[in-house]
Amino acid sequence: MVDLTLVARDAGRIERVAADLKVRSPQSHIRVVEAEFLEPVAIQDTVDEIISQGAVDVVLIAHGSLPEQAGCQNDLRACRDALEVNGVSPVLYAEAFAKHMAQADHGIIALIGSVAGDRGRKSNYIYGSAKGLVTRYAQGLQHRFSGTAVKVVLIKPGPTDTPMTSHLKEQGANLASVEDVAQKIVDAVDRCQAEAYVPGKWFLIMMIIRHLPRFIFNKLNI
Ligand SMILES: NC(=O)c1ccc[n+]([C@@H]2O[C@H](COP(=O)([O-])OP(=O)(O)OC[C@H]3O[C@@H](n4cnc5c(N)ncnc54)[C@H](OP(=O)(O)O)[C@@H]3O)[C@@H](O)[C@H]2O)c1
Repeated sequence: MVDLTLVARDAGRIERVAADLKVRSPQSHIRVVEAEFLEPVAIQDTVDEIISQGAVDVVLIAHGSLPEQAGCQNDLRACRDALEVNGVSPVLYAEAFAKHMAQADHGIIALIGSVAGDRGRKSNYIYGSAKGLVTRYAQGLQHRFSGTAVKVVLIKPGPTDTPMTSHLKEQGANLASVEDVAQKIVDAVDRCQAEAYVPGKWFLIMMIIRHLPRFIFNKLNI
């Protein structure tokens, strides 16, 4: 049994998720909040209202969208939108919760970054830059809360079979199952793991990618 608040931009869509969760866990208390994701004052108000209902033990910040890289290169508005939704917005939500958790000296903030944030690549560096921002932010938050009871978990999924990657699936991409990745995210949050590559093989893959000398890396079509 859990006390869960789902926050999303579209009440209709999130109500369907809530209805499904209620069938799976009838004892749980599930609340839906339609919210703004870019406007700082509205984000603060949303988080303050959630906290006013009771202390939050775990927050999972999971929103994001995978933009087309070429679109971002050709249209600065698309570029800005991608940076905002994948980078700025998660940081604002985390910061709003961090303020309350710092006062309570209690809570876990889990952020979904991406392996794409580990090194800029020509195929998706706008999305990757935003995820890189989330990575640096999570590191700073971990530093801020070291020695306290507030924990920060940064999750870095590899390509996963969700609606976000349906076009990649059609192109034959090898995607991890959402059930496997979701379970590993739950495990990482349970362990308060500072950084979790999911599935774990991405730790090794990205270590190699990060350390490849530039003269080799620049020859790769990735
Ligand atoms: N799938 C992958 O391969 C992969 C790999 C690495 C990291 N990730 C990250 O994992 C997280 C979850 O993604 P997913 O794969 O589960 O994709 P998804 O199924 O497409 O879910 C994305 C979620 O973000 C929300 N969202 C998108 N744009 C938004 C906006 N402008 N304002 C507010 N909410 C917005 C969507 O809300 P709506 O339902 O209203 O559209 C949806 O709830 C994201 O942070 C993503 O970057 C995914």
